[in-house]
Amino acid sequence: MTSEQPFETIIEPFRIKTVEPLRRTTRARREAAMQEAGWNLFSVKGEDVLIDLLTDSGTGALSAKQWGMMMQGDETYAGADSFYRFEAAIKDITGLDHVIPTHQGRAAERILFRAMVNPGDIVLNNTHFDTTRANVEYREGIARDLPCRESMESDDFPFKGNIDLERLDQELTANPGRVPLVMITVTNNSGGGQPVSLANIRAAREICDRHNVPLFLDACRFAENAWFIRMREEGQGDRSPIEIAREMFSLVDGATMSAKKDGMSNIGGFLALNDMDVVVKCRTMLILTEGFPTYGGLAGYDLEAVAVGLYEALEEDYLRYRIRSIAYLGDRLIAAGVPMITPPGGHALYLDAGAMLPHIPWNEYPGWALSVAIYLEGGIRACEIGSVMFGQQPDGTEQAAPRELVRLAFPRRVYTQSHVDYVAEVLLRVFERREMLRGMSMLDSPPVLRHFTARLEPLEQGLFAACPAEPV
Ligand code: F0G
Repeated sequence: MTSEQPFETIIEPFRIKTVEPLRRTTRARREAAMQEAGWNLFSVKGEDVLIDLLTDSGTGALSAKQWGMMMQGDETYAGADSFYRFEAAIKDITGLDHVIPTHQGRAAERILFRAMVNPGDIVLNNTHFDTTRANVEYREGIARDLPCRESMESDDFPFKGNIDLERLDQELTANPGRVPLVMITVTNNSGGGQPVSLANIRAAREICDRHNVPLFLDACRFAENAWFIRMREEGQGDRSPIEIAREMFSLVDGATMSAKKDGMSNIGGFLALNDMDVVVKCRTMLILTEGFPTYGGLAGYDLEAVAVGLYEALEEDYLRYRIRSIAYLGDRLIAAGVPMITPPGGHALYLDAGAMLPHIPWNEYPGWALSVAIYLEGGIRACEIGSVMFGQQPDGTEQAAPRELVRLAFPRRVYTQSHVDYVAEVLLRVFERREMLRGMSMLDSPPVLRHFTARLEPLEQGLFAACPAEPV
């Protein structure tokens, strides 16, 4: 509450101009959809999903201003106006010298690592996102995670996304010449959507300087991170999100970005950096695989959507609503005792299926069973981040993932408070019936990234039959 805003209710800071109907399904339809999909939510058709919380990536709503500028998209092959607007926005916010457009975040990663990572090199990160890790490993590099200790040990540490500074220094001391770059992922998606403090980025910068190693941000959710800094870091409460974002970027040598998140776009990404030698190598790769350096695999109208979206992601009213809507769901679930990573993340809640379903062993995939139950119960699609996603080893064996989580990721500007209330109701109903849930068995799966296409089945006939069968 402030003197300008004497009310407690945080409203959605937009009104709705275009609507898209939500599609209700019966429980029988959802059962059939699961059967057809091999009990894999990635294989379920969008038309069978009521509220889709699979990802916050590329799923947001565009603003009237974005659509307006998209009509002005310049589709000139080389040197389009749209590129210069895109470049100007990124330079203004990041202060980095060179901007390379890509079709999404992983393309920026692939191009950067192709230029900077050689076989046997080690890339250090608070926690690599899966595509980032895969792109390091594709270069035969080693992707090493250095999450801060509080990320596992504390329930209320405000910056659980921080990189472990002591280990960072140790790794750089122990591996001279083998670490081509250090990355910090803001917010830390795989670690629960948790923020990184300015103090932590600043300290990492000093350590990298001492070892003469460049520091990069994986900046997908930089605006959400800036908001958390404003709310939680000492001395930052009076600064605007854009000022904080500028300071975050001023501490690094470059950034990779998926504009599908805090670029508020349905597609797009970029690489921004200072080192001209690396830029030249990246632009060569860009032309080979993405496109000419002034469009990088994007249409002119996509560049326009990002140029506007980056600023909209930094608006205070938007960020207040965005972070609050996830915390609001978190508050309701925490009050009921639902185990999850706390405090809630910026773009998602991460339910702790391991703690919720102790009767289901890891190799019967408790996170998967929980996500299926949530879908069957209320047509809500979430995503397992547990032993189906991470349990598979290169030699074909299986190991338990560190945690059995289910992520509920919120598309930007898409759902309203009543949608969130509905999600809470469904989750609480599943939570009440948690003892009735049973595990899953793996029928067949591909050798890598199996969660996308694996087929599973419930271990017991009528696994969820104990849940009431009324349609929603
Ligand atoms: N880095 C982080 C931290 C991400 O969360 C993602 C994507 C990427 C890089 C890759 O970006 O998808 O544009 O190629 N995360 C999505 C998610 C897919 O659901 O969390 P991309």
